[in-house]
Amino acid sequence: MPDFFAYRDGELYAEGVPVARIAAAVGTPFYLYSAGSLTARYRRFADALAAERPLICFAVKANSNLAVLRLLGGLGAGADVVSEGELRRALASGIPPDRIIFSGVGKTGPELDAALAAGIRQINVESIPELRRLSEAATARGAAARIAIRVNPDVDALTHAKISTGKKENKFGIDIDEAGGAYELAGELPGIEPVGLALHIGSQLVDLAPFRRAFERVAELVIELRGRGHTVRRLDLGGGIGIRYHAETPPEPSAYAALVREVFGSLDLDLAFEPGRVLCGPAGLMVARVVYVKEGSSRRFVILDAAMNDLIRPALYDSWHDIVPVRLPATGAVLATCDVVGPVCETGDTFATERELPPMAENDLVALTNAGAYGAVMSSTYNSRLLVPEILVAAGRFAVVRPRPSYEAMLALDAVPDWLGDGSRLPGASAGELTGEPLRERGAA
Ligand code: LLP
Repeated sequence: MPDFFAYRDGELYAEGVPVARIAAAVGTPFYLYSAGSLTARYRRFADALAAERPLICFAVKANSNLAVLRLLGGLGAGADVVSEGELRRALASGIPPDRIIFSGVGKTGPELDAALAAGIRQINVESIPELRRLSEAATARGAAARIAIRVNPDVDALTHAKISTGKKENKFGIDIDEAGGAYELAGELPGIEPVGLALHIGSQLVDLAPFRRAFERVAELVIELRGRGHTVRRLDLGGGIGIRYHAETPPEPSAYAALVREVFGSLDLDLAFEPGRVLCGPAGLMVARVVYVKEGSSRRFVILDAAMNDLIRPALYDSWHDIVPVRLPATGAVLATCDVVGPVCETGDTFATERELPPMAENDLVALTNAGAYGAVMSSTYNSRLLVPEILVAAGRFAVVRPRPSYEAMLALDAVPDWLGDGSRLPGASAGELTGEPLRERGAA
């Protein structure tokens, strides 16, 4: 069980608040984040690297709720953003522009403009065409864009293929063999000030070896570039540190920090990091309610009111999330093997297959753990389900930090063009429901 979520008298609490009480107040499903856990995790990471005096730019993609960003920003975090939307979120949360780094392979012209207008710390450039476009955008504004070249070191991160980014065949960064040339070009282009290099080889790394290989290659490149007379002040080492979802043994922040010190300690660089998952993953649960328990001929299905649209990681990456009861069963309760599924009309809408779980009955509450990263941010309204709400709990109190929208609000996002008519002429239309017109008029049509 992650920290800050604990059982008391058989009841799951989050920072002193019964999870069942929150469920009663806001309904299910919902995400529940612990402010204490976020704080402790940020501090542990920052403390491990304190000697390096780094800038820790939280990867906003992992959890972009404004309350979470405000909290981390208040602890000193900057932000790693990958879109104008994330940039706006970081700024709206109060994170100062000089602590914001913009990464991503496909930044559009308007997005580059927004970054220049905000005066952020650094743009991590991932291709020569991007470098040229940024040069034009910066020159047009009479600005100088501080950039880092994101290097693709051609290292296998030994993680899930869909979240591996550091191999040559991945779309990310500039091949390490070409990065020197790109750096040189950056120095020649108007409006561009190359300040350093950036690196990110993948996510959910549970082994330090790929980090070491990538770090060593980049350290060589720093030395080579300096040897050729370039200034390389900054190095952004990305994120990627894994967490324990099931049986993994991810590196401790202190071991990661020791590796950083070993490889870069003598290079006198301003270091930045872009951790996401390690800061917020274990700090969040997704809470759901059992709708039915269905005894199939070969399986027992526990059907939740949460689905793949709320938490897509199991469907997308076959990822594991522990599923725990919000009220512990009586001692001696026998575990049963079940499939835990959602109501969406896809077989992939499965949170767990043949999982040993305590007895589950209709209306029971369950929590899926380690859901604070890449959970709510990846949610959708698929099957026209309402976007899942988010709750932040802190020392005995909780706040809804993103409410569940109403069905009216969801429907109001669509617009039907006039030329499709008002619905009253649809065959068999119930005018009352679709148009609000009195039935009498429909009869006349
Ligand atoms: N920096 C860059 C440039 C990134 O692309 C990422 C993640 C990070 C930092 C943060 O990585 P972290 O520390 O969180 O591992 N949706 C997937 C994860 C995708 C990660 C994408 N990039 C999942 O649910 O596992």
